Amino acid sequence: MTIIVTGGAGFIGSNFIFHMLGKYPDYRIVCLDKLTYAGNLSTLAPVMDNPNFRFVKLDICDREGVYGLFEEEHPDMVVNFAAESHVDRSIENPEVFLQTNILGTQVLMDACRKFGIQRYHQVSTDEVYGDLPLDRPDLFFTEETPIHTSSPYSSSKAGADLLVLAYYRTYGLPVTVSRCSNNYGPYHFPEKLIPLMIANALNDKPLPVYGKGENVRDWLYVEDHCKAIDLILHKGRVGEVYNIGGHNEMRNIDIVKIICKALGKPESLITFVTDRKGHDMRYAIDPTKIHNELGWLPETKFADGIQKTIQWYLNNREWWETIISGEYQNYYEKMYGNR
Ligand code: NAD
Ligand code: TYD
Repeated sequence: MTIIVTGGAGFIGSNFIFHMLGKYPDYRIVCLDKLTYAGNLSTLAPVMDNPNFRFVKLDICDREGVYGLFEEEHPDMVVNFAAESHVDRSIENPEVFLQTNILGTQVLMDACRKFGIQRYHQVSTDEVYGDLPLDRPDLFFTEETPIHTSSPYSSSKAGADLLVLAYYRTYGLPVTVSRCSNNYGPYHFPEKLIPLMIANALNDKPLPVYGKGENVRDWLYVEDHCKAIDLILHKGRVGEVYNIGGHNEMRNIDIVKIICKALGKPESLITFVTDRKGHDMRYAIDPTKIHNELGWLPETKFADGIQKTIQWYLNNREWWETIISGEYQNYYEKMYGNR
């Protein structure tokens, strides 16, 4: 079994590679990654010498390069994590989101059609459903919830997601799609809420909470997401969409307070800043389908997962300090300087 994992030098893709190499010693994993600002080769250091692993620096939009890799590797499966993934960046510069997230996905699926494949899996997001109101805690996203996106990021992910389903219906490509809620855990790039707050708190810097901090996300420990994708790949029904997540809803402000407490930092570091444009209020997943069909449920409770995550950032300072000392400083200044 050879699996091409795109975007494997990023947060979830790298965790997925570790999971798969650990669980299936006879699988070959080929990681294809462009190494954008969000990709980090040092993250993959623990598997670089594994004979079942290969890293290839490549853009998923590079049709010739992608076809060449398929010709060499004859993959049985492709799992597409590669994407521009940050909502705030998509608001500043949507174009690259459309290129990578939609057109890159098309290149990968064309390669799958050309060379033949057992399974193409698209890692999508619950953000394709838009948001839910705060005063309706009875509402959840199901796979039937209409697509109704808010940001250029979620729109580009929805475009890709729908294109994948179109390749199933039109060409019979054996695809599956998963729409997951917010992940957290090791190797999460420090521009995202949880790692950003941990890094800032450790450096005694202000903790910039958008708006009033009342927005709700349904947080999932990254390992649980990886296990769900593993299950879908092996047992999921072709042509189907599976929501992943569930029952770990938290307000942003409460998460930031938990981080302050765990690190012994004062809540006075919390600074309320100008809200994100078009900011989604609440995401919440109904995981009934994946639970009933594949037996999946989240295993890590938020209270445990956040402590493990904070501990990981304490133990791996070099990983994130290297990131935030580079180009990231310009990004941070631009995004938060006059906010
Ligand atoms: P990330 O930004 O940490 O990693 C993205 C990876 O993709 C990086 O290694 C980057 O170098 C690579 N990449 C970007 N453009 C590329 C291109 N053109 N060609 C090849 N590689 C490219 O993202 P993440 O948080 O790990 O998210 C992975 C996937 O999961 C994305 O598709 C995202 O939409 C989806 N997702 C993320 C979350 C979340 O909470 N992080 C939740 C649901 C779904
Ligand atoms: P983020 O990690 O960017 O994920 P997403 O927007 O995809 O859900 O943000 C999570 C939540 O945290 C979101 O409601 C925006 C908020 N947020 C802040 O309040 N401050 C920040 O500095 C960041 C990055 C996010």
